[in-house]
Amino acid sequence: MLELKSISKSFHDGESELLVLDGIDLTLKPGESLALLGASGNGKSTLLQIAAGLEDPDAGSVQVLGQDLSTLNESGLALMRRKHLGFVFQQFNLLPGLNVRNNILFQRRLNGLGDRDAWIDELTGVLELAPLLNRPVEVLSGGQQQRVAIARALAHQPKLVFADEPTGNLHDTLSRQVMKLMARLVEESGCSLLLVTHNRAMAEFANRRLLLEEGHLHALR
Ligand SMILES: Nc1ncnc2c1ncn2[C@@H]1O[C@H](COP(=O)(O)OP(=O)(O)O)[C@@H](O)[C@H]1O
Ligand SMILES: [Mg+2]
Repeated sequence: MLELKSISKSFHDGESELLVLDGIDLTLKPGESLALLGASGNGKSTLLQIAAGLEDPDAGSVQVLGQDLSTLNESGLALMRRKHLGFVFQQFNLLPGLNVRNNILFQRRLNGLGDRDAWIDELTGVLELAPLLNRPVEVLSGGQQQRVAIARALAHQPKLVFADEPTGNLHDTLSRQVMKLMARLVEESGCSLLLVTHNRAMAEFANRRLLLEEGHLHALR
């Protein structure tokens, strides 16, 4: 589903060089959810961006759904993301000017999928979005916006979902509620999930946990 081999990445800051990822190997199987933990600045987002083909590694290879990302050009990568990947970010990243329904259905429509099916009903039901469908996304609370972002990420039934601090903007109780719903829907859909978070309680919602520290992945103590 997702296979990273010997991924390295450095950033240059004037004179100094910061080695963020130092030969990372990682495999995510179909239907598996994996949480990458680590303090802020440890390279979690960098690793997620590389795994999703949004950033290039300095060395190493990334396979998504059996495809080596280095063999795809920009439009090939964009097509792969549009059809098979879903994203949830800390900053929600909803499309302003569109209501909840049109945000949720945006990527489905790009993929030529219809607006109504049992999965959309399931998403709007579980995430309690039915009463909000006609609201502009700008007027929603943070928790409501993140429920919409989760529905949007899953609406086209992606095979692999990337979530980067998905509850980072929500308070504790709400974080737990929203993460629980996301974990339930990920499991129902059968997709794989790569979750990155600095929050150990959120990582508990994944099947498996690893710690990213000093450029390497470690088992959690
Ligand atoms: N585009 C960039 N240019 C320079 N440094 C970067 C860039 N992206 C990330 N970094 C640095 O790499 C390190 C890891 O960042 P990041 O992957 O965002 O960590 P995390 O998501 O774990 O907080 C940080 O020190 C950050 O400042
Ligand atoms: Mg980050």
